[in-house]
Amino acid sequence: MNAPAIKHYLQFADFTADEYAYLFERAALIKRKFKNYEKHDTLADRTLAMIFEKASTRTRVSFEAGMYQLGGSVVHLTTGDSQLGRSEPIEDTARVIGRMVDLVMIRTFEQVRIESFAAHSRVPVINGLTNEFHPCQILADIFTWIEQRGSIAGKTVAWVGDGNNMANTWLQASEVLGFTVHVSTPSGYEVDQSVAGLRSPRSYKVFADPLDACRGADLVTTDVWTSMGYEAENEARRQAFARWCVDETMMRAARPGALFMHCLPAHRGEEVAAQVIDGPQSVVWDEAENRMHVQKALMEYLLLGQQ
Ligand code: CP
Repeated sequence: MNAPAIKHYLQFADFTADEYAYLFERAALIKRKFKNYEKHDTLADRTLAMIFEKASTRTRVSFEAGMYQLGGSVVHLTTGDSQLGRSEPIEDTARVIGRMVDLVMIRTFEQVRIESFAAHSRVPVINGLTNEFHPCQILADIFTWIEQRGSIAGKTVAWVGDGNNMANTWLQASEVLGFTVHVSTPSGYEVDQSVAGLRSPRSYKVFADPLDACRGADLVTTDVWTSMGYEAENEARRQAFARWCVDETMMRAARPGALFMHCLPAHRGEEVAAQVIDGPQSVVWDEAENRMHVQKALMEYLLLGQQ
């Protein structure tokens, strides 16, 4: 008998709307049990390897705490403290690690690097952020939306800022789950539809003025002006992005009751005004916490399937 195909989670488009419906429901159950101090150790004796080639706070803590709560254990590697930093090929690293653990989470640079790893891994691989995508974050963001407001289908999300991995992933999610994204980026920092991996331009609209992108939006979201790996562009970006700061005027242009999200870390006074991120429409702390709950559901699903 053939072994079942391994399922990886490398970008948002890897799962269907039905799979997301299951994951959101499962994450809600897992979160409820966590809040009630009820044991949920479905991954007892399983091991997660986490490979970080870029810095992290939320991703590391949410995966590590989540895996321990599921009854499993974690191995933490960085480029600097592993042979990856001494040019061992990613394919060889994948072949070796997959013989010792049950699941791998990687935060790295180019998407092609995690795809190479996954192609040589005999265990599921999860994208913990690449230059192109951040699917676990959008999984948490949409779960947070659902908790607060119900289904995201038919809603409008305003993306204000860099056409980066978060923007790409919101756009992929809009195709899978049926909502619209208003995108406003400075000139030169636009979303590239081919990099975002979109099937069509139907689910998003581009606005030159960030205020126009926010008009009528149900959710306004942004990210830092300079993502990890682009620090050399810091000064040029600071000038180019000056008007792409989500402020109270933008939030007033959105629908009454619109939410504000930010994947964090945030720079108050740059991409978001303190009054917005620390204001009543902001759900950033729920978003951060929900990383752990949705990723527990994700790890369980990749290893055990639907329960
Ligand atoms: N949002 C996010 O991925 O946070 P970290 O960079 O701290 O992991």
